[in-house]
Amino acid sequence: VTSPLRIGVAGLGTVGGGLLRLLRQNEESLAARCGRPLQVVAVSARDRSKARGLDLSGLRWIDDARALAADPEVDLVVELIGGSEGVAREVVETALRRGVPVVTANKALVAHHGPALARMAEEAGAALAFEAAVAGGIPIIKTLREGLAGNSVKRVAGILNGTCNYILSTMRQTGREFADVLGEAQRLGYAEADPAFDVDGVDAAHKLALLAAIAFGRQVDFAAVHVEGIRAISATDIAYAEELGYRIKLLGIAERQEGGISQRVHPCMIPAAAPLAHVDGVFNAVEVEGDFVGRLTLEGRGAGAEPTASAVAADIVDIARDLRVPPFGLPVAGLAPAATRPMDSHVGCYYLRLMVVDRPGVIADVAAALRDQDISLEAMIQRGRDPGEAVPVVLTTHETREAQMRRALARIGELESCLEPPQVIRIETL
Ligand SMILES: NC(=O)c1ccc[n+]([C@@H]2O[C@H](COP(=O)([O-])OP(=O)(O)OC[C@H]3O[C@@H](n4cnc5c(N)ncnc54)[C@H](OP(=O)(O)O)[C@@H]3O)[C@@H](O)[C@H]2O)c1
Repeated sequence: VTSPLRIGVAGLGTVGGGLLRLLRQNEESLAARCGRPLQVVAVSARDRSKARGLDLSGLRWIDDARALAADPEVDLVVELIGGSEGVAREVVETALRRGVPVVTANKALVAHHGPALARMAEEAGAALAFEAAVAGGIPIIKTLREGLAGNSVKRVAGILNGTCNYILSTMRQTGREFADVLGEAQRLGYAEADPAFDVDGVDAAHKLALLAAIAFGRQVDFAAVHVEGIRAISATDIAYAEELGYRIKLLGIAERQEGGISQRVHPCMIPAAAPLAHVDGVFNAVEVEGDFVGRLTLEGRGAGAEPTASAVAADIVDIARDLRVPPFGLPVAGLAPAATRPMDSHVGCYYLRLMVVDRPGVIADVAAALRDQDISLEAMIQRGRDPGEAVPVVLTTHETREAQMRRALARIGELESCLEPPQVIRIETL
């Protein structure tokens, strides 16, 4: 009999618990696929006395997760603690340094330290895998790195955060405001008590930085990703989007452009007929465009115990089979510099919503600010009249450069008749 692959699992929360259940439930088929049994031998978490609904009998409990990573009887370390620094990072580095393969679901860690960790892995001859770090159960990393290896990728665009997608979908379906829907999502367990990482776009940016690095064979450049979240999206914007034939989604987009790669996460208006417009609730989806394959879209559950465990298990199987692929698709020395294009150079169409005092000349002032920056209008909606009161005015533009749009907005924001900072949402044709 071939010797089992001895696995140490650091972190027994949502994902760790899901992984233990998966490895037990599918034990036989996994052993058959790997040609050897997969055996969890040791586990670690913060609080040993916590009720987890998991059968931990026969497993060694190691208080210090770093000691688990250093244990000579562990052949593979699975890091499911989380966080870009601290214990999670030490666990991964400890294992890699001694040549032990690591599987992690930790997007924050890989977004911040990916290339350095990949280099450590390379030097020690150990595998480092993080399929679960991006879009949960969707095998997008393997798809990009292996399935699409024959292509030059032009663009990757995705709904990468289920919490934001749930909030935006619910706002659209019910007409309610952001804060209200966020509160409900927290009560239902779809949003964290501290929702900042999700609703401010940081989580999606971690994932986008990883997708961009793999798709374009470049260094991870998380710091350069342009990030905006969804807090400022109002029910009014969602209603106008509908009227204009769009849906509002928080997208992560990485594109190959002249002079570099653009990497951005922000709310987008996308045509209601686009595939990504129909991905609702907690689902994630990623659309890839390659020069030979054309477009393809993968959709599925982007979080949760079971889908995330599914992705972790796939990485474990690759390692058990001794399938070796560099973490970012090519050796670290071959990764090109990130060369992220600044957002100022972005070119696209824009939706603007202004709250203005209804009096003569206001629209002319707004139009002049846009004209002076060579921005041409596509459409305008101003409904009803309410002399002397605040009314919404919605404008959409033809393609323009972000820097020009910002200059025009600064001027519009200074108009006395403009009562709130202008709302701006980029329109993506996809
Ligand atoms: N949840 C998802 O749907 C999902 C999806 C994709 C990726 N991920 C990623 O997967 C990772 C884990 O997420 P999760 O949702 O499973 O988190 P979680 O439920 O909060 O679980 C974290 C686990 O880490 C343990 N832990 C915390 N500090 C520790 C320490 N110093 N030493 C040892 N163990 C420690 C905790 O111990 P106690 O249980 O004793 O408190 C807990 O078991 C994160 O990187 C996350 O970004 C999660």
